[in-house]
Amino acid sequence: MIDLSKRVAVITGGASGIARAVARQLGREGIRAIGLVDFSEAVHGVSAEINKYLGRDCVIPFCGDVTDRAFRTSVFAEMKRRYGGVQLCVPAAGIVRDGLAVRVDKATKTAKLYDQDLMEKTISVNLVAAAYWAMETIASVAECRAQAGLGGWKGGDEVQGEIVFIGSISSAGNKGQVAYAATKAGLEGVQSTLAKEAIYYGMRVAIVHPGFTDTPMVRAMDPKIIEDTVLPRTQLGRLLAPEEIADAICFMIKNPAVSGALWADAGWHPPA
Ligand SMILES: NC(=O)c1ccc[n+]([C@@H]2O[C@H](COP(=O)([O-])OP(=O)(O)OC[C@H]3O[C@@H](n4cnc5c(N)ncnc54)[C@H](O)[C@@H]3O)[C@@H](O)[C@H]2O)c1
Repeated sequence: MIDLSKRVAVITGGASGIARAVARQLGREGIRAIGLVDFSEAVHGVSAEINKYLGRDCVIPFCGDVTDRAFRTSVFAEMKRRYGGVQLCVPAAGIVRDGLAVRVDKATKTAKLYDQDLMEKTISVNLVAAAYWAMETIASVAECRAQAGLGGWKGGDEVQGEIVFIGSISSAGNKGQVAYAATKAGLEGVQSTLAKEAIYYGMRVAIVHPGFTDTPMVRAMDPKIIEDTVLPRTQLGRLLAPEEIADAICFMIKNPAVSGALWADAGWHPPA
């Protein structure tokens, strides 16, 4: 099993939901330090609350937008200054902007396309930023290895790391989610490519696909849709708890035999 006390993590979207639960669990399981990132000021209070719960100063808050390149490099620079580098990343910051791909206005009988600005915004946060925070983590490990005179990873040394992307059941396509589904399917391509490249540095790159989870993101959706179309068809008959997804992510991080994709969806997939 991976020794978390040797890991420094960056977790984005950490002021809320799944990422906050991941930070709590990694902290409880002994991780050395976590840079917790969110554009909500709440990230400060959440970090303080987790540190209090852990009884040690493990979580450092960073408030900013994950799509801001200068902010991203400043977070990694500060974590390097404090801890020598980052080896673990869960780039969880995400947004959902639902809408049909094509909608016909009943009165005018004209068709309207899904807003292209929303498509680009969703891709920028969920896909491009997630890819670059992960790549920054691989770069951190690669530099440490180069500076320690280590070549390609052959096992046995400790300069390695893990990345877990957060996909979604919507990566398989879901009505009303053309933008969101595109980003989560896109992450599968990023994950499988980075997995092939980063193993050179001893890094595993995985993706978890959660089902509907009880977070502010889902609470903002129409509860009737979830109650009528989702919950009756899941094994649990309720929303997943953020802690259940966090547990799946921590399992993927800790068990070195695990890579690739894991579906944590209580058995539900979007219907046609
Ligand atoms: N809740 C679900 O049912 C579900 C299912 C599948 C996948 N996911 C994915 O899990 C991840 C976490 O979602 P969640 O449900 O915990 O949602 P959430 O809304 O509780 O948390 C998302 C966090 O991301 C932050 N964020 C959004 N855009 C940001 C930006 N540009 N810069 C910095 N921070 C930003 C928000 O402030 C928020 O704190 C997302 O990637 C989401 O797509 C969620």
